[in-house]
Amino acid sequence: MVAEVAPTSRLEGTVFLPADKSIAHRAALFAALRDEPSVIENFPASADPQSTLGCLRQLGVCVHEDRAGHVKIAGGPLREASTGLDCGNSGTTMRLLAGVLAGQPFQSTLTGDDSLRSRPMDRIAAPLRQMRANVSLTRGRVPIRITPSSGLRGITYALPIASAQVKSCVLLAGLYADGPTTVIEKEPSRDHTERMLDLTVEEVGSMRHITIEPGHTVPSPCTVIPLDFSAAAFFLVAASIVKDAVITMPGVGMNPTRIALVDVLRAMGADITIDRMRHSGSEPIGDLTVRSTELHAVSVGGSLIPGLIDEIPILAVAAACAEGTTLIRDAAELRVKETDRIHAIATNLRVLGAEVEEFPDGIAVLGNAPLQGTVVDSFGDHRIAMAMGIAGLVATGKTSIRGARAVSVSYPEFWKTLQHISGAA
Ligand code: S3P
Repeated sequence: MVAEVAPTSRLEGTVFLPADKSIAHRAALFAALRDEPSVIENFPASADPQSTLGCLRQLGVCVHEDRAGHVKIAGGPLREASTGLDCGNSGTTMRLLAGVLAGQPFQSTLTGDDSLRSRPMDRIAAPLRQMRANVSLTRGRVPIRITPSSGLRGITYALPIASAQVKSCVLLAGLYADGPTTVIEKEPSRDHTERMLDLTVEEVGSMRHITIEPGHTVPSPCTVIPLDFSAAAFFLVAASIVKDAVITMPGVGMNPTRIALVDVLRAMGADITIDRMRHSGSEPIGDLTVRSTELHAVSVGGSLIPGLIDEIPILAVAAACAEGTTLIRDAAELRVKETDRIHAIATNLRVLGAEVEEFPDGIAVLGNAPLQGTVVDSFGDHRIAMAMGIAGLVATGKTSIRGARAVSVSYPEFWKTLQHISGAA
């Protein structure tokens, strides 16, 4: 599918975002680990969280979902799947599930689409093997085969990369270990697992030590999934760069480990207000309003990066519309996301007429180049597709985004919503 976006001089309205996919994966998976049934509301219809539900069904979990996003999950033991577990495009499904499966008395195979099959899995295999799990990869990658272990060992594991997926994988395997498992993180990655499992977190100097005890009781999952800040990010930038814009987004997840983009955009001059901060289960939520402004360049790197790792494609679009040169470094992780996002962003922004320098761990974007609408590619990646859709609002002429259907992974309604708020519908 090709999406076509025309420039607009006006952007306004209220955007009701999809539910947060990171939280949805965890809510479903944790519900399946409980002894009692759980009900989750506002479960997203997007492909990634649906992959988690699909895998749970393959593992014999009774999942009932209606069209309104109410999901009922019966707890109880997991059972061996008769075929490979299909994680689709979802790294979170695969890496979190691998932690749980490492502790099961049956064998499993985890597989996924072409993108997922090319992503590194040694980052979870290494700590799981330290725990004495039997994990075999296919040349460091997917499919992953996990066979029953003679008993998992509790370990202390210092994360070599800031990754909530690796952290969660190890902690979940720790549920089945012979003693406590502690994950140490230097740079705080998203903390939904710790919050939703109600784990002990100790601040030791600048490090976080997160500990799980074997057989830890999994609390009832948050009943209503908050709306996705990572989806809000596209409209935060859209309303900042379009001349006459104001967008509000109610009920957005405002977990402090996820919202570094707000600080970065504000440092660029963005006009963002956050109202009515409140809680939905263990997660803070708030109402966001964003209005047009002139943006200027920033430099981002270091420990700020994990808090905006998924937002860098859209931050690069903001950078292309800002005064000065924006530098984004320490983000080599972008190379192993759904696609090589550094390459994808640099390629697309150059095609649109921006000047971009690519580094192994980031990019420099020279701002305020006049963007010229043309054909760009999603590289099969939902966040690249959406970032290019927003760039199209300020490019001259028509911007055609090839592979636009990729948005279904996290935000199936994105193109419709964009049309609606830009008055193109
Ligand atoms: C996620 C963690 C991040 C993020 C991904 C979702 C999660 O990946 O990029 O979209 O839900 O735990 P890493 O943990 O690999 O950085």
